[in-house]
Formats: sequence, C-alpha cells, structure tokens
Amino acid sequence: MPKVTIDGVTIEVDEGTTIMNAARKVGGEIVPPAMCYYSKLDKSGGKCRTCLVEVTKGSDKDPRPMPKLVASCSTPIMDGMEVSNKTSQKVLDARKGVVEFLLINHPLDCPVCDQAGECDLQNLSYEHGTEGTRFEEKKRVFDKIDIGPFIQLHMTRCIMCYRCVYTADQITNERVHGVLKRGDASEIGTYIEKAIDNDFSGNVIDVCPVGALTDKTFRFKSRVWFLNPMDAHRNCDKCSGKAVVWMFGEEIYRVTGRKDQYAEVEEFICNTCRFETKDLAKWTIEGPRHISRESVISQGHYEMQPLKIENNNEETK
Ligand code: SF4
Ligand code: FES
Repeated sequence: MPKVTIDGVTIEVDEGTTIMNAARKVGGEIVPPAMCYYSKLDKSGGKCRTCLVEVTKGSDKDPRPMPKLVASCSTPIMDGMEVSNKTSQKVLDARKGVVEFLLINHPLDCPVCDQAGECDLQNLSYEHGTEGTRFEEKKRVFDKIDIGPFIQLHMTRCIMCYRCVYTADQITNERVHGVLKRGDASEIGTYIEKAIDNDFSGNVIDVCPVGALTDKTFRFKSRVWFLNPMDAHRNCDKCSGKAVVWMFGEEIYRVTGRKDQYAEVEEFICNTCRFETKDLAKWTIEGPRHISRESVISQGHYEMQPLKIENNNEETK
C-alpha cells in the first residue's frame, strides 16, 4: 500500500485516497479543516480552499514539490508523498486569506444566529482568522426565504459550499434547489421558490456549515449551549430513527442527526423524526451525546449530570 507522510506522521493508505482522508485516518491536529468537503456526499469538496496543504515531495518516483498549495480534499496521495499542513507557514498564511475571503460577505451576526456555538465558520475564524477586516465595501444582502414549512434560508450567510445542493441531489428523490447565477451574484435558489417537499429535506440544515439553512421549529428558541444533547432512538419506518434530541429540562427543543468529530452526520434522518417528533414519550433516551469536536456546547458539562429522564417510550423500551 502507498505511504504518505503528513506533518511528520507516516501512514499506509489505499491507492486513490485523498490527502484529507489519509489525515483523517490518523486524526487530531494533522487533519486540515474542511468547509465544503463532506465524506457522505459524492463529489463534495474543492469549493472553499480551507483545506489547502503544501506538498513538499510529490512521490518517491518524482520527488519534486508541487508548485502551489493543493486542496487536500480532492488531491489523491502518491507513494512516498510528503505533506505539510500545520507545520507549513505558507499553509497557515493561505488559510488566513481564505478565512478573510469567506468572511467578506458573511455577516457577523453570531449573537443572533442559531448556528452560533456549532458553526464551522465561527470555529475556523477563531483558529485561523484575524481580529480585524480590510473589507470596506458593502456586503451582499438577501431577504430571508422560507423553503417549505420547516426550513429558512438566510442567503446572506451562505458560503457557497454546495453541500445542501449535493444533499438534496443525492438523498432526496427530486432536487428543486441549486446554485443560481455566477461569481459574487451566485445564490442558493429554489426555482420559483418552490418548497423542498421531501421526507429527507431537513438534512440540508445539518450539512450547512454556517447558519444559512436553519430549522424553523427551533429558530430563536435557545442558544445551543444551554441545551443538553442526548442520543435517542425511536421506531421509524423512514430512517434509522437514531438521532440527537436537544433537551431543556424534560422538553425536546430540537432534533438533529448524530454528528462525528468532523461535524458530519453519521446517518441522515427523516423530517418526521426531525421536525414532528418533539414529544419525549416517543423517544428512548440512551444517554448524553459526547461532542467529540471542540465545542462550546461541552462547556455545559451536561455529560456529568445524572440522567433523570425516564424512558416512557413503550415502542422501544
Ligand atoms: S446554504 Fe449552507 S450548505 Fe448550502 S451552499 Fe450555502 S453554506 Fe453551503
Ligand atoms: S474542504 Fe477542500 S476545498 Fe473545501
């Protein structure tokens, strides 16, 4: 199997593995950040440039370095390749530039945004951004759009990662939204603002790395760090029924998919579980969800609180 060295760590991976996925096999600090790549979605990646890395040695056969930084999510490894991520000043400088670009049009409305506390862009800016901005021009502004009864689109916050487009394309039967126009005029549109009316459409909320697509049943109800995320399941005939219910006391405020350390959902869930099952009696609570990525949510120390919720779910007891 071909070998690749990333930030001094050498691993063997299958032929054709991307640098990003090779790094994910090791985990931890050497994994480049990703704002558009999503391992569960085909063809995702290559849009945001957050994951740029420096290839200091192309391969054993051709050891020349690559002339420019490359997107680790879409560049396959070669045998003997050497890659610098966090150890390359060039990469860190470029990442700063990318964050600055992503924030050009993104409003700094974190205090009123539902995504605050679990926003990938917020985390990325915290680690790689600068305090100030050099952008003096006017930011793009869009009206909020209701996409069906459960989802609201704040195009103003969108970073054009295309994840929602691929989600709708790949896990729902009929895609009715996509990216309209080009360049800085591009926007997520629903063609004549048609509702995304599909059992799995709510997953676009989970894959959105920012607060551009939000859950209308949860909007402005609470900050995520005031809630206790719990693994829960129910018998569902549309999806696996495995979700995370976000609780305030004994009330379920929202339901989401279970996310891994890269903020990617493990299994897509259906709209019935997500939007229409907020009754605690319909769920079997398994226990606190461990948030395995850096997150302000863990600051609530909810995992240390004893589980007082009784399982009333007759179906799954
Ligand atoms: S709405 Fe969200 S998921 Fe869709 S392209 Fe914009 S940032 Fe990405
Ligand atoms: S994660 Fe690689 S380009 Fe966006």
